[in-house]
Amino acid sequence: MTSIAPQAKEIPYDKIRAVEWENGRLKLIDQRILPGKFEHLYFDHLPEAARAITDMVVRGAPAIGVTAAYAVVLAARDQYKENPNDWQKAIQADLNLLAEARPTAVNLRWAVEHMRSLINAGIPGNPVMRLLSEAQRIHAEDIAANRRMGELGAALIEKGSGVLTHCNTGALATGGYGTALGVVRAGYAAGRIKSVYADETRPWLQGARLTAWELVQEGIPATLIADSAASWLMKQGKVAWVIVGADRIAANGDTANKIGTYMTAVAARHHGVKFMVVAPASTVDMATPDGSAIPIETRSEAEVLNFGGICTAPEGTQAWNPAFDVTPAALIDAIVTEKGVVTNPTRGKMVAMMKSR
Ligand code: MRU
Repeated sequence: MTSIAPQAKEIPYDKIRAVEWENGRLKLIDQRILPGKFEHLYFDHLPEAARAITDMVVRGAPAIGVTAAYAVVLAARDQYKENPNDWQKAIQADLNLLAEARPTAVNLRWAVEHMRSLINAGIPGNPVMRLLSEAQRIHAEDIAANRRMGELGAALIEKGSGVLTHCNTGALATGGYGTALGVVRAGYAAGRIKSVYADETRPWLQGARLTAWELVQEGIPATLIADSAASWLMKQGKVAWVIVGADRIAANGDTANKIGTYMTAVAARHHGVKFMVVAPASTVDMATPDGSAIPIETRSEAEVLNFGGICTAPEGTQAWNPAFDVTPAALIDAIVTEKGVVTNPTRGKMVAMMKSR
């Protein structure tokens, strides 16, 4: 039922691919309907792919970036067909539309600007093969980065530990394998992680619907908790680390991630539980000095006022639905990227890490 990546067969716990390029089309798992239904949607044009990002058919910062790179290939094919002499000019509006699909995940902008710079540098003749190979390279590099982060992050965890994760940061949220959930996969395979707890992650339930689904697919036992049970779980001494992903890491280490991450970090510090952020270098935005400059997406009130299509609040109730929050660097014990581990992050340490290799 799941998409099995050929190159992933020997790696333990790595069966799922949310984003694929198949027969000249972009193929996405529809994450809005998991776990009840497992279905793919196919895309031939950039505007529909941009809409799929906004509507969360595909979500998770790195997966959005990979999807965007493939969407640029779709746009180049359309624009080159329409106007082979002037497609580079015509595609600029498509790129702008795509970059606006969601505001917080910097990987989206990173991928769009990367593809734009390639286009603006000049591609002779039909650009599709050149852009496709770049999108596939971005995709493969994301998976390789996740495997590296899995090893680096798992090495920080004492054998036999319990961990808590928030949102979904796995194969569904990335090119494959996952960031924080990649550390969970690697740590479980190495016997360092004994028990995994997952926050359900209100209001969109990425933890309950997606993380729990991934872990069931992989055969990794996990326990789901209500977000509000996290502090009490820590108080019982059940977890040694909280491990989360990121949508954008500012130059000083402040980290935007799924709403609820910040309160979990506050609780972790109070209980002496370590807090790890795992994200590829493409999520680090050195142009954003600190967390106060990160744009935070506000989503529809309906996501808070309803549950599974049923209204859970009286008519006339208002809701506030910030999709992300910012955890200050001071509450983070380790930031893990494919370039290395930064403990107790500061701007100086982040600059040094980003310069390495
Ligand atoms: O709104 P979402 O589901 O796109 O939010 C996802 C997250 O906050 C993830 O933790 C983050 O993108 C990292 S995914 C590897």
